[in-house]
Amino acid sequence: MEMTPYQLANKTPLTLSPNFILPEDKRPNLSDVLPSDSIPIIDLNDHDIDDGQGPSPLVTKISQACEEYGFFQIINHGVPKELCQKVLAVVTEFFQLPPEERAQYLTKDHSKQVKVFNYYQKYDGIGKVTMWSETFSHPWHPTEDFTHLLPTNPPQYREVFAEYARAIGVLFDRLLSLISRGLGLDKDCLKRRIGEKPGLNTQANYYPACPDPELTMGMPDHNDLGSIAVLLQVEGVTGLQVIKDGKWLTVDPVPDAFVINLADQTQVLSNGKFKSVGHRAITNKLLPRLSLGMFYTPNNDTIIGPIEDLIDEENPPKYRKYSFKEYMEEFYKQEGKRRRVKEAFELQR
Ligand code: OGA
Ligand code: NI
Repeated sequence: MEMTPYQLANKTPLTLSPNFILPEDKRPNLSDVLPSDSIPIIDLNDHDIDDGQGPSPLVTKISQACEEYGFFQIINHGVPKELCQKVLAVVTEFFQLPPEERAQYLTKDHSKQVKVFNYYQKYDGIGKVTMWSETFSHPWHPTEDFTHLLPTNPPQYREVFAEYARAIGVLFDRLLSLISRGLGLDKDCLKRRIGEKPGLNTQANYYPACPDPELTMGMPDHNDLGSIAVLLQVEGVTGLQVIKDGKWLTVDPVPDAFVINLADQTQVLSNGKFKSVGHRAITNKLLPRLSLGMFYTPNNDTIIGPIEDLIDEENPPKYRKYSFKEYMEEFYKQEGKRRRVKEAFELQR
């Protein structure tokens, strides 16, 4: 069966032309990928009484997952199922709009708040290879009205996103506090250190079906930059993979769950105790896949460095202090490559 190729916002048809094909040594090697049984699934309704007798069972599970994987899924998280379905539906509709409608959000200016773009990598001797996906990025906020920035087509986009943002704001507060307690810190500590006026942005990633997933990548191997990410993925289509001990593991969608992953600033603030782990998305032969990531990031002026309470003689600081602006400058400097941003801030010992 011949499929009509998806048209990117710039009207390029997504076909297996050389522009989308990875050099052989960069391909996903799907036969080497392991199933995901081991990624923790954590029930947020688990016992969580702070009785002063050490961490609750819930906090212990979270902190083990953060140390070992930097990735986990959560269930019973309090965000209504219907709301998750509605937000995935409006975002899917957005990607199904005609390309000229999505094209109004194309820009080369990475400081633009609302944008459609395509991930790519640059390889020596080959040049740019574009990933098999399209991404729509814009702000979200649990309390401020940001919806005037959002599309009016599909018509429910603004309303649904505002409701989703409120619910995810509550969830972020809860997660930041659980992760803080997992570090043995005060529950407000991480949120305070990530600072005032955090950057709140979302990325919706659409991965059209690909005739040969072995030749392409939906999103290249990367680490997230901010503090933590809350990812919602459509049920029944796999694609997300994380690296553990040098092997790729799939993170299968679990019904009514969010995937939580720690991002670089949490690794630095925890002085390396909690991990920001490399991950990527592969494409799927038969079905398109959609994921929606919500990110919480320090603003440019925030000073990040290992939290002092976690430093002592046995645990000297592993990273130097920096402003988040410096971090982003390093990020942009590594454009087109597998970025190793936090490594640039490591202290040599
Ligand atoms: C991201 C991301 C993975 C996915 O948006 O940073 O890692 O499954 N997405 O789409
Ligand atoms: Ni990511």
